[in-house]
Amino acid sequence: MFESLIARPTDAIIALMEMAKADTNPNKIDLGVGVYKTADGATPIMRAVKQAEGLYLTEEITKSYVSTIGNAEFRTSMLDLIFGTDYAPLTEGRIASAQATGGSGALRLGAELVMSSGKNPTVWVPTPTWANHTPLIGSVGLTIKQYPYYNSDTLGVDFDDMLACLKDEAKAGDVIVLHGCCHNPTGADLSKAQWDRLAPVLRDNELIPFVDLAYFGLGHGIEEDTYGLRLVGEICPEVLMAASCSKNFALYKERVGLVAAITTSPDQAKLVQSQFGALQRRLTSMPPDHGAALVARILGDAALRQVWTEELDEMRERMQTLRKSLSDALRVQGAEAMAAAILNQNGMFSTLPLSLEQTQALREKHSVYVMNSGRMNIAGANATNIPRLAEAILAVL
Ligand code: LMR
Repeated sequence: MFESLIARPTDAIIALMEMAKADTNPNKIDLGVGVYKTADGATPIMRAVKQAEGLYLTEEITKSYVSTIGNAEFRTSMLDLIFGTDYAPLTEGRIASAQATGGSGALRLGAELVMSSGKNPTVWVPTPTWANHTPLIGSVGLTIKQYPYYNSDTLGVDFDDMLACLKDEAKAGDVIVLHGCCHNPTGADLSKAQWDRLAPVLRDNELIPFVDLAYFGLGHGIEEDTYGLRLVGEICPEVLMAASCSKNFALYKERVGLVAAITTSPDQAKLVQSQFGALQRRLTSMPPDHGAALVARILGDAALRQVWTEELDEMRERMQTLRKSLSDALRVQGAEAMAAAILNQNGMFSTLPLSLEQTQALREKHSVYVMNSGRMNIAGANATNIPRLAEAILAVL
């Protein structure tokens, strides 16, 4: 049987992560995979997580199974965090949710739910989008198409083209994947005014938003980063959401995520919730509990929550400072547009306007690791390496 299999290439993000790890140059600059790093290049466990873990170790009394939809406290506290406790669909019992194995597991469960509807809609993703969106969502058998999003000349969102495509080409019932904040890979987000224009277009054309919320808290803050999701949830009758705790709780390897669906009635929410449970059972039976229990512990404890909020603020502010420093260092003749874009974009990523040859040269001549697409993770930079990074970028341009 195995001889009929073909070797598959490693995913580009994972391949770059491995390449950077293997580089022995002590001055290498790894701007690849989307993990947060401190000034000394470490990805530490957050203080709130460490403290919650200590408490949890003594409090935990069983390793018995939890549920196919995961930890109830986690789901409730995450929904409150993401939507706010007085959010109408939440207080009216119209939101179904399930804990998932990371943000990717949440996307998968959402895609499985769409597939289970039997309606076979097209799923639209932005151009460009996270490299794993199409393989992950497509693997359930859904057709994927792309809508225009990022303009690599203006280094900003092509909002008019995006709206035109959604109005003219997407069909009623189609699913529209939107990055709630910190667009991966470009960092170019919709403004509040753009969300305000987009939401009625989605509603009027009977399109179903599927909001990917992998980086919330790391753009402008929890409230600001969930603005678009909350808005479409108020305006559109049905919305899907996939959230991740990988970045904002730095729980990457623990695989903590949440899928949610805003529905039109409590009965519909119950039905969707039963689907999430059955789908998860079929896929992996149950999500792992440890990381979700820590998140529930942090969000349910005022003191721990305060520690976490401060750390999240520190992470976000540090990335904003790095953006400013890199932008300043790149503000030379010919690179002004790139410098301005880096400053205005949000979260971990920006996509530098570099060709494949230029990104290869960055790796081979300067030990600077960005994706072939030009995507860089700003958190991999620091005050010491930014002058060298800027020099390397300008040298390959
Ligand atoms: C990334 O885009 O680098 C992260 O979301 C990590 C991953 O799994 O791709």
